[in-house]
Amino acid sequence: MTTTASPKNLAPKRLFIRTWGCQMNVYDSARMADVLAPLGYAPAETPEGADMVLLNTCHIREKASEKLFSELGRLRHAKLAKEAEGGRMILAVAGCVAQAEGAEIIARAPYVDLVLGPQTYHRLPEMVARATRAVGGVIETDFPPEQKFDHLPDSRTPQGVSAFLTIQEGCDKFCSFCVVPYTRGAEYSRTAATVIAEARRLVAQGAREISLLGQNVNAWHGAAPGGGSWTLARLLRELAEIEGLARLRYTTSHPRDMDDELIAVHGEIPQLMPFLHLPVQSGSDRMLAAMNRGHKADDYRRIAERLRAARPDLALSSDFIAGHPGESEADHQATLRLIEDVGFAFAFSFTYSARPGTPAAGAPLQVPQAERDRRLQEIQALLRAQQDAFNLACVGQRMEVLVTGTGRRPGQIAGRSPWLQPVHGEGPPGLEGQIVPAVVIASMTNSLSVRLEGQDAYGSPAAPRQEKAAA
Ligand code: SAH
Ligand code: SF4
Ligand code: F3S
Repeated sequence: MTTTASPKNLAPKRLFIRTWGCQMNVYDSARMADVLAPLGYAPAETPEGADMVLLNTCHIREKASEKLFSELGRLRHAKLAKEAEGGRMILAVAGCVAQAEGAEIIARAPYVDLVLGPQTYHRLPEMVARATRAVGGVIETDFPPEQKFDHLPDSRTPQGVSAFLTIQEGCDKFCSFCVVPYTRGAEYSRTAATVIAEARRLVAQGAREISLLGQNVNAWHGAAPGGGSWTLARLLRELAEIEGLARLRYTTSHPRDMDDELIAVHGEIPQLMPFLHLPVQSGSDRMLAAMNRGHKADDYRRIAERLRAARPDLALSSDFIAGHPGESEADHQATLRLIEDVGFAFAFSFTYSARPGTPAAGAPLQVPQAERDRRLQEIQALLRAQQDAFNLACVGQRMEVLVTGTGRRPGQIAGRSPWLQPVHGEGPPGLEGQIVPAVVIASMTNSLSVRLEGQDAYGSPAAPRQEKAAA
């Protein structure tokens, strides 16, 4: 820890954080708030008048990066307004765009005070001190020799009923299209002991569901308490022992790291929810090779089969890219076939977006944008139909709902199903954090409507195995 100041000695300062990108960025934003709290920064709902505005950015596709500069343009006015009142707003850009573009950000937006990458935010107190003194921006985007996790304060920003816990960071896989190995750096696994301690803290703060996060979460191989290392399967078994922790998930996984032990635990740990995000990107072996994914389409089909053999009600979600360089119509058709063969309850799909510095960006045979768009539409139509069918198959089923809060209307609760579907229904206030049996009465485009059947006692054992046919 770099900080010695106590929040008691400092006037409260308002910190506004805006987060784009993956769940790991959501987790990082909470941890950055933890790092800044001892300096007197408390969360603010809006950027206007804030003492510090922190933008946690995503670089994964072109559109994601563009959002930063349009937001900075707007924030410049808020910063000038604060200065006109004699105050100061520190404008900080964090995350993957910061890592990728570094000084370029300050060249384009000279009013930015701080640029920091995803691996340097434990140094924020020192950076803020420098930015306060400095004229011109402070930039920290080198990958530091120390691990930020060893220097962060304990997590204290409450995440609520459903919490994220980053256990693994970075990526060594270098898929042809992807910026993550460059923005997040090399693969790193946190130790089992630190993960378990953080999970216990989250549960003590009210979490009943924890999603373990990593760019390649199933490659996690953290140091074990007694020496050696554990697999993710072993870690899940240990976490399932934490009293009051009713639901476990992990994301995002790579098919290459889906080993036998991990597949088997899906049938053994009742707390492990029957829903797995397992990106495949393409159904064509030629494209999977061009993407450097390191597996074939049939390997993916086999993994899906084996997961469902271990846990018959398991549903899958995935990511798809339409129009990677070199993709032919036949390759595209192979992707549609894989979607039909496997069947997905949910999926993300994108047109290929060339990212500077990645191998695919310079590859020959770039697919015209109109063709990428057409292929994406076909992929999405099929995925949409599968999602609708999956949601419709839930109607009439009994399932355990984790109540995450109140709904939009009075007398409504909001929650989520074991399959991560958002759920709403009539229910009294005060159920937050409870796991309540419910019957699904209707399916909407992206959610389920339920009738609650009863309530559990806080800290009750996890939901029983669901009896539900896969869609
Ligand atoms: N680590 C995960 C995914 C990280 S990025 C994995 O290996 O699957 C999340 C998703 O964004 C990817 O699965 C991919 O579908 C998409 N994506 C990444 N780079 C992209 C690009 N250049 N163009 C379009 N989609 C991309
Ligand atoms: Fe990107 Fe591939 Fe690594 Fe996933 S496995 S983060 S897609 S390089
Ligand atoms: Fe985006 Fe970085 Fe996550 S590029 S998807 S915020 S790892």
